[in-house]
Amino acid sequence: MSSLIVLGGGSEIALAIARALVQTGVRGVVLAARHPEALELSAASLRAAGAAVETIAFDALDFDGHAATVEDAFARARRLAGDVDVVVIAFGVLSPSRPLDDDPAAVGRAAAVNFAGVVSAGTAVGQQLRAQGHGTLVVLSSVAGQRSRISNFPYASAKAGVDAFAEGLNEALRDSGGRVMTVRPGFVRTRFVAELDSTPFATSAERVAADTVRGLERGASVVWSPPLIRWVALVLRYAPRQLFRLVTRRR
Ligand SMILES: NC(=O)c1ccc[n+]([C@@H]2O[C@H](COP(=O)([O-])OP(=O)(O)OC[C@H]3O[C@@H](n4cnc5c(N)ncnc54)[C@H](OP(=O)(O)O)[C@@H]3O)[C@@H](O)[C@H]2O)c1
Repeated sequence: MSSLIVLGGGSEIALAIARALVQTGVRGVVLAARHPEALELSAASLRAAGAAVETIAFDALDFDGHAATVEDAFARARRLAGDVDVVVIAFGVLSPSRPLDDDPAAVGRAAAVNFAGVVSAGTAVGQQLRAQGHGTLVVLSSVAGQRSRISNFPYASAKAGVDAFAEGLNEALRDSGGRVMTVRPGFVRTRFVAELDSTPFATSAERVAADTVRGLERGASVVWSPPLIRWVALVLRYAPRQLFRLVTRRR
């Protein structure tokens, strides 16, 4: 038996990952979210699939509370189904898309959720994994973090920071038995991007979940979803600026 914790428990991608992991034998799930009372439907669907589920309150901006909340999540998960195999950090917000026309405070708050929230909560998770001696932290980064586009550079820069943090935390945990797997999805059709035009290689939360489970099984450090997006990102990352502008001008 093993258990799972999701920080950002209302995330559509994270719930797809939770469903997929329950199918592989995870028997306890702790969903941590800003509004845990809103997670009852998701919890019920995981229970119907065979998992014991608890929901708790978690806010990415409550840095002072992260250590205690993550410790509590680990204790609850262990009571439900034994040691914590996987923790998913899934919270995030899409930054305002025209930062030069937006309230700087709103842009800063989004960056605090997307970057500082991950650093703070991720550190707390890293400490618990080190103490436990095994388990994987899955961090939802993004292909967006590979190169800033005019339409999303505050979000992209936060995800670039998240990526660097996840790589460093993975190294820091190396001798402890714990590890970190960075997931870099492309455009995933969830409510997160409901107001944006779809892009080539757009995928589903279920596909990201399947790629994540496969990555966990093979002990990957980085997972791209869909896998092909890795090569698209590589080309775009090193494309001359004029070409990059042209390709991304409407995105
Ligand atoms: N969808 C995409 O195209 C895509 C692509 C690449 C990466 N990602 C990343 O994947 C992750 C999940 O995205 P998704 O598509 O599943 O979107 P989603 O369903 O909107 O999930 C985002 C979650 O973040 C939570 N959240 C926002 N601010 C928070 C805060 N201050 N404290 C705690 N939780 C907070 C939201 O909680 P509430 O329910 O309370 O609002 C929501 O449940 C995000 O990190 C996103 O950046 C998404």
